[in-house]
Amino acid sequence: MEKPTTIESIIAAHRDQPGALLPVLHEIQHLLGYIPPDSVPLIAKALALSRAEIHGVISYYAHFRQTPPGRHVVRVCCAEACQAVGGEALAEHARSRLTGSDVTLEPVYCLGLCACGPSVQVNETTLHAQVTPEKFDALVAALEAKP
Ligand code: FES
Repeated sequence: MEKPTTIESIIAAHRDQPGALLPVLHEIQHLLGYIPPDSVPLIAKALALSRAEIHGVISYYAHFRQTPPGRHVVRVCCAEACQAVGGEALAEHARSRLTGSDVTLEPVYCLGLCACGPSVQVNETTLHAQVTPEKFDALVAALEAKP
């Protein structure tokens, strides 16, 4: 089966499934990088939900973006095990380092590398363990240098 390539086709592919909202939101974000505000009324109408219900789900899950991301996305783990080994300081460093950058910083709540935090994920594909501020800066510099 061909992958849906528009918001409308994503909604159409799921509209008759029970619990269609999360799959629809995931696929829209996968397609566009975020959930455009003007998609909410379309989803609401097709799934017979209120706009408030959809906004509630989008804002509940840190995973969903409401604005387009930068060229790259870096997620710093803010869950307890990473926080206990410097994750909070790393997140603060990351906020400062990425101000004005086209690399988007997002929190994430556990990447499954709890024993070797602080942990970072780059572009939803690459995991990095025991990330120091220096290691973080090197990761970001490599991303920013990519064409
Ligand atoms: S708590 Fe950070 S990876 Fe699990």
